[in-house]
Amino acid sequence: MDTSVINERYSKLAEDTCCLSCGGAINFSDPREGEVCVDLGCGRGNDVIRMAQAAGVKGFAYGLDISDGMIEKANRNAAKLEIGNVKFIKSELESLKLPSGIADLVISNCTINHATDKKAVWDKIYRILKKGGRFVISDIYSLEEVPEEYRNDPAAVSECWAGSIKKDEYMKIITAAGFSEVDILEESKPYIKGKIEISSFTIHGKKAACCSCKG
Ligand SMILES: C[S@@+](CC[C@H](N)C(=O)[O-])C[C@H]1O[C@@H](n2cnc3c(N)ncnc32)[C@H](O)[C@@H]1O
Repeated sequence: MDTSVINERYSKLAEDTCCLSCGGAINFSDPREGEVCVDLGCGRGNDVIRMAQAAGVKGFAYGLDISDGMIEKANRNAAKLEIGNVKFIKSELESLKLPSGIADLVISNCTINHATDKKAVWDKIYRILKKGGRFVISDIYSLEEVPEEYRNDPAAVSECWAGSIKKDEYMKIITAAGFSEVDILEESKPYIKGKIEISSFTIHGKKAACCSCKG
C-alpha cells in the first residue's frame, strides 16, 4: 500500500487539536520509574511524554510514527516541556526500528489497524519487549468483511476502518506472536465507521518471563 497518503493525511492533522484516539491504552498502562516505554503510532507524542515523565530520568520513552508532521510536532511538544528522556523515530510499524528486547512496556492507540501486515507488527512487538514485558494496545476490529475495493485504499485505511480485521483473527495473531495472558480491558459497542461496523477495544498481554518461551 502507498503509505504516502497516510503520511500526508496525518501530517496535516498534526497541527489540529482533534482527538485521534479510539481507546485509553495509556490509562491502563501504568508506566513505572526506570522503565523503557514505546508508543507505536505516537502521533503528536502526548502519551510518549506522559510515559517519559512517569519513567523519570532512569527510564526512557520512544515514539514511532510514519508521518513527518507528527514526528515534528511530537519533537516540538517534548522540547517545549523540556522532556529529555524521549526519542521520536520515523518508522513503519512493520519494520519497527528499535533493538530487540529493550522495552518493558509497549502501548499503541488506534494505529495497528493501519498496518498492511499485522502479523509482522505483532511479531515485532514481541521482539522489542523484554522477557516479562507487557503491552497495552487500543485498536479497532471489524464486525464484517471490509469491502474488497476499500481494503487496500490508503485513504480509507487512514480513516481508521478499512484496515481493520475481525476480532478472532486479531486475537489469533497476538497468540501466534507468542504472547500469553492476553485480556480485553475495555470494549465499545459496535458503531459505524466508513462503510462498515466496527468496535474499539483495549487489550493487555505479557511476554512470558520464563527462559523457555519463544524469543
Ligand atoms: C489515529 S492516529 C493515533 C495517534 C496517537 N496514537 C493518538 O492516540 O493520538 C494514527 C497514527 O498512526 C500513524 N500511522 C499510521 N500508519 C502507520 C504505520 N504503518 N506505521 C507507523 N505509524 C503509522 C499515523 O501517522 C498517526 O499518527
